[in-house]
Amino acid sequence: MCGIVGYTGSRQAAPILIDGLSKLEYRGYDSAGICVHGEDGLNVVKAKGRLQILSDKTAGGNEVQGVVGIGHTRWATHGAPSDHNSHPHLSASGKIALVHNGIIENEARLREELLAKGITFASETDTEVVASMLGIYYDECGDLIAAIRKTVARLEGSYALGILCVDDPDRIVAVKKNSPLIFGFGQGENYIASDVPAILKHTQTVAYLNDGEMAVFDANSVQFFDGNGNPIVKTREQITWSISAAERGGFEHFMLKEIFEQPKALRDTIGPRLKDGKVVLEGIDLSADYLKGLNKICFVACGSAYYAAGVAKYILEKYCRITTEIMMASEFRYCDPVLDEKTLVIAVSQSGETADTLEAVREAKRRGAKTLGIINVVGSAIAKAADQTIYTCAGPEIAVATTKGYTTQLAVIYLLTMHIAQALGKVDADTYAGWVAALERLPEQVEDLLSQDRIDQIKSFAQRLTRHNNAFYIGRNLDGAVCLEGSLKLKEVAYIHSECYPAGELKHGPLSLIEDGYMVVALATIRELFDKTVANVREVRARGADVLCVTLEELAAEAKKQAQNVIAVPSTDPMIQPSLNIIPMQLLGYYIAVNRGCDVDKPRNLAKSVTVE
Ligand code: F6R
Repeated sequence: MCGIVGYTGSRQAAPILIDGLSKLEYRGYDSAGICVHGEDGLNVVKAKGRLQILSDKTAGGNEVQGVVGIGHTRWATHGAPSDHNSHPHLSASGKIALVHNGIIENEARLREELLAKGITFASETDTEVVASMLGIYYDECGDLIAAIRKTVARLEGSYALGILCVDDPDRIVAVKKNSPLIFGFGQGENYIASDVPAILKHTQTVAYLNDGEMAVFDANSVQFFDGNGNPIVKTREQITWSISAAERGGFEHFMLKEIFEQPKALRDTIGPRLKDGKVVLEGIDLSADYLKGLNKICFVACGSAYYAAGVAKYILEKYCRITTEIMMASEFRYCDPVLDEKTLVIAVSQSGETADTLEAVREAKRRGAKTLGIINVVGSAIAKAADQTIYTCAGPEIAVATTKGYTTQLAVIYLLTMHIAQALGKVDADTYAGWVAALERLPEQVEDLLSQDRIDQIKSFAQRLTRHNNAFYIGRNLDGAVCLEGSLKLKEVAYIHSECYPAGELKHGPLSLIEDGYMVVALATIRELFDKTVANVREVRARGADVLCVTLEELAAEAKKQAQNVIAVPSTDPMIQPSLNIIPMQLLGYYIAVNRGCDVDKPRNLAKSVTVE
């Protein structure tokens, strides 16, 4: 986690760095700092708390003079959020300043080694250890690049580093392993950043650094090197999305904006993959022969992506009759998973950076499985690690809580299911045509669910439910799978304790908790299971729960007889129904969080991309 940015050019660096960091706050936001080469050397300013505090402390950066600088927004891993733990960190000599995104796993050993040499530390961070070690090597050889090479050779773990040296006032050096880093080409100025939005305002021409690569640059030139120190030429890539895609555009929060972007994200994800009534997964090699030889499919993912995989399990088993396992990526590596070359491992990840998921992919490959990524961020670490990748086309997702990331993952999962069902001969032409038609209709149906009337209705339910401090989400089969995501949305953005249970499981224990003051969200959109879920609604209501039932329009009248609050969603093909059901749940979580005054886009303790295990 954490975001880094660097600038060199003829403009004042600090305001550009602070603005860039504001686009990276989703990566971490417990403290921030900048270092600018001033006339009197390296000028470091840091502040615990949100970036705004750093901005206020420096008048938006205007009080820090200099045209070359680096900046950092932090999500604490080593040492609590504080001024002294914030980046940039200086070497003991004060000659080197660096910012770091990642985690140095052998930090403790390196720290001891440096302590034995008499080095003292001002912070508890792994980053300061790197800065100090680099400082020592630099003092020994007087060659910054050689010293950086020697330093990174000693590091285990992940890093993207932006480095300044007091003796080299025009240059920035950047190097990376297992953490993202992009280089931005400007006119008479150059940039580095952890992610595109930080520099998109200034340039749309970038290069993605690979592991081990280094960029050494000033305002007018850049040299790239591979891990062995050989000069390389990097491909210049054009970013096709605009700055407005990375800004709030009139919405109160990114989360709400991203909920509203779902129709477009779904169109972009589905549209190019439906051709002449068929699913076409261009560039993806999943032939009928290969699929027929599979013993199972195994999904690895975390959080909401794992819940999207939960939907995949139901539909792949039902419609393709193929054994489908889902595993939390954080558990996968350590459970000695049963896989071989006849297993397809599918990694789902919006960021493409989640450390647990990345390691799960590597483990799957070591065990001989073929790997496929369902990823949003192009060129991200998991996309590179997986044998093949199907991209979701959600565009940049900034709010920490995913919305369009999840729904586009579902869309790819439907497409994949359709492809596999057809390749295995498990689906008849009518059903397949029904799926295609339902997918084509989906963006419009989501648009309808975002109409003002429906929003007003959800706002009024949210108003009523805001007072509760405990929630249960219940549903059966695919409804239960979607409830997991609905419940996560509520707990992560509204800080309400929320559990999710298959509706039929409630009476086997958790029902004892239900009393006055509990809210229960029941999802009942599967016709065959409707009566059973409604019976569960009756049970919780009888024990005092305030129930919101989400059901199909044609079942709403019946649901109203049992639940105090009912939201009706339009119906579609049962396989695709989850994508409609989640929309009111996202909105409910959002509006309850707003009512409770929560920091919706940056919930406490969380960060957008979780690059630590
Ligand atoms: C919840 C949320 C997280 C992520 C999880 C995996 O709203 O966003 O649970 O889904 O951290 O992240 P990715 O998909 O980037 O691998």
